[in-house]
Amino acid sequence: MLVPMRILLDHAAENHYGVAALNVNNMEQIQAIMEAAKETNSPVIIQASRGARKYTNDAYLRHLMLAAAELYPEIPVAMHQDHGNSPETCFSAIQQGFTSVMMDGSLAADGKTPATYEENVAVTKQVVDVAHAFGVTVEGEIGVLGGIEDGHGAGGSGLDHVTDPVQAEQFVAATGVDALAVAIGTSHGAYKFSQKPTGDVLKMNIIEDIHRRLPNTHLVMHGSSSVPRELVDLINKYGGKMKESYGVPLEEIKRGIKHGVRKVNVDTDNRLAITGAIRKVFAETPDKFDPRDYMGPARESMKAVCKERMIAFGQAGNASKIKPVSMATMVAFYKK
Ligand code: G3H
Ligand code: 13P
Ligand code: ZN
Repeated sequence: MLVPMRILLDHAAENHYGVAALNVNNMEQIQAIMEAAKETNSPVIIQASRGARKYTNDAYLRHLMLAAAELYPEIPVAMHQDHGNSPETCFSAIQQGFTSVMMDGSLAADGKTPATYEENVAVTKQVVDVAHAFGVTVEGEIGVLGGIEDGHGAGGSGLDHVTDPVQAEQFVAATGVDALAVAIGTSHGAYKFSQKPTGDVLKMNIIEDIHRRLPNTHLVMHGSSSVPRELVDLINKYGGKMKESYGVPLEEIKRGIKHGVRKVNVDTDNRLAITGAIRKVFAETPDKFDPRDYMGPARESMKAVCKERMIAFGQAGNASKIKPVSMATMVAFYKK
């Protein structure tokens, strides 16, 4: 069933776990997540970037999500807009039935230029006012991630604009966001760190500081793929050319979860799993040409990654414990 993201994050906070927020662009990815959720009894956050919405023309995505909700009534699912670049993007997501939106006002609407604090507050507050009137959850971002995905991102190192904890506190008070994405040195994509990250480049201490100041705000870690060596090796074994790279180790994410992180964004690891599986089929059985022969293994491979994350983040076992709440109840909740 589709639920507001806020209730998943509240349950995660009350029970001290994190929820993976997994990006999708097609049917097999949604199926992989839902099967992983069913097998582990996990609540899930499924998210779509602007690029994903364009790729699926919104209508395919909406109907696929409705199919997931229909086929898995026992799994609470939040449908989230990832990195909304403007209030208009967030409003159109709400019209499409998303139960949660991210207004990423850390960048200007071009998705590239770092915005000022004042600009960020203005667009985020505008989204909060409208979204909450519909019971929709809002995630904001303060600080800027490194790297660039699908034209979105300031580029550069993850350390260029790490979050200032004092500003984070002011931002939450000024906007009323439900969840706050923070920049602690990570980047989107497969190339985050050139060696296993230490505290110099992955600033988990900033999360601890922000959580001390904002114990009731749900924190979000973007760029949280772990970039498992075995997935990169599989891609390279079957003809890929990926450079050596390090992601965010699961033990660091678990440390974040101990300090208020409730939403953990993972896209790249699933992309790696899918690509490795497809390359393997192509290399080992070059006579095959039925898409099901490679999309099927790709889906299985992504499912395995999703299950691993659901177990590691602690969301496994919690789907059946969550009482579904309607959007109308959330409207009343926000009015108070
Ligand atoms: O924000 C990053 C996610 O990995 C989505 O990427 O914009 O290429 O769909 P995308
Ligand atoms: P990764 O590229 O590390 O998977 O991050 C995804 C993300 O943050 C989506 O918003
Ligand atoms: Zn992100």
